[in-house]
Amino acid sequence: MRGPVAAVVPAAGRGERLGPGTPKALRQLGGLPLLVHAVRSLAEARAVDLVVVAAPPGGVGEVRALLAGYESGADVRVVEGGDTRQQSVRRALESLPDHVEVVLVHDAARPLAPAELADAVAAAVNAGAEAVVPAVPVADTVKRVDDDGVVEATLDRSCLRAVQTPQGFRRDVLAAAHAAEEVSGTSGVTDDAGLVERMGATVRTVPGSEEAFKVTRPLDLVLAEAVLTRRRASRGP
Ligand code: CTP
Ligand code: MG
Repeated sequence: MRGPVAAVVPAAGRGERLGPGTPKALRQLGGLPLLVHAVRSLAEARAVDLVVVAAPPGGVGEVRALLAGYESGADVRVVEGGDTRQQSVRRALESLPDHVEVVLVHDAARPLAPAELADAVAAAVNAGAEAVVPAVPVADTVKRVDDDGVVEATLDRSCLRAVQTPQGFRRDVLAAAHAAEEVSGTSGVTDDAGLVERMGATVRTVPGSEEAFKVTRPLDLVLAEAVLTRRRASRGP
């Protein structure tokens, strides 16, 4: 299967854990907004034909202007995001042209995820998977605690993975998962694969990338700056 591939980029969050200021997707990293890094990387991916960004409320015009002029192999569009990440993804999904068969969902907050990762995820969906997530081993020991902070159990780390984006889906599977979530209105699910799992579909993993980490707290931005500096130095002038 090799249907047209669209990448949806939820970018409408406020970035409260990063601290007060501009919406997180518009914060600067190496002189460019996080969102521009994320969109560039997706547009560079061979597999991606179209990128749809869910912009912060009221920020559609600003985001269009930021992304205009960037020459890329993919068509880039902007819609307005919603109050939750899931709503933002849903709005972008609803705007996709009918012929799109494979959808990647990628956080604007993961600006340094390599284009090759998007290609690997898309390839796994094209090879027949319903849903695919990049996954990395967990470095810390993970414990489950009760409401008082008392440890209940130590989880077996060997079967735990931290998952990243881009996550890839057959479009029909992702659309059905979002439609089911809209009806049930529950949550606690923090990624798109989680919605797909609840429908009973199989989610496969591909190896993640250490550079696909999410910028969540101020220290993550320090790390991102360092990674970008190293990358630019290794590419030469
Ligand atoms: N996101 C979105 N719409 C929302 C909330 C989040 O599109 N209403 C996006 C964010 O812009 C981000 C991605 O979902 O690219 C992952 O979310 P997260 O890292 O939690 O970002 P924020 O919600 O912005 O950060 P915080 O939770 O610290 O406020
Ligand atoms: Mg959030």
